[in-house]
Amino acid sequence: MTQTTLFVCSLCRFSKDEASRDGISGGQHLINQLHQFLTDSGLQDVVRLEPLRCMAGCSHPCNVSLAAPGKLTFVLSQISPTEGAKAVSAFCQQYATSPDGKVPYSERPNSVREATAFVLPPLPTDAPTR
Ligand code: FES
Repeated sequence: MTQTTLFVCSLCRFSKDEASRDGISGGQHLINQLHQFLTDSGLQDVVRLEPLRCMAGCSHPCNVSLAAPGKLTFVLSQISPTEGAKAVSAFCQQYATSPDGKVPYSERPNSVREATAFVLPPLPTDAPTR
């Protein structure tokens, strides 16, 4: 199975009015929860969790992106730092088992459908080099 990478902004706020709780950002809280859900689902070796320091979507926390070679790239925005990990983890499972990342819209978790900001095509593998 192709390695999937889940990028997650570790600096995203909990909300517009709340940057952190107990010294932990919303993004870090989401990362901690995602780590647990991915482990519980047995996906820790299939989905690589990659924290990033800002994905330039700061006004719409939390931000994550799911990508893999030869597959669509999903950019999700406004994922709840407290409630979003379960749905994102479920979507990771669907994505990882899909050969091209085209998880049918109707099968995606509701919150993932609502949070989908962008879907990008796979990078060409036969692009000419300069
Ligand atoms: S702080 Fe998360 S996108 Fe900028």
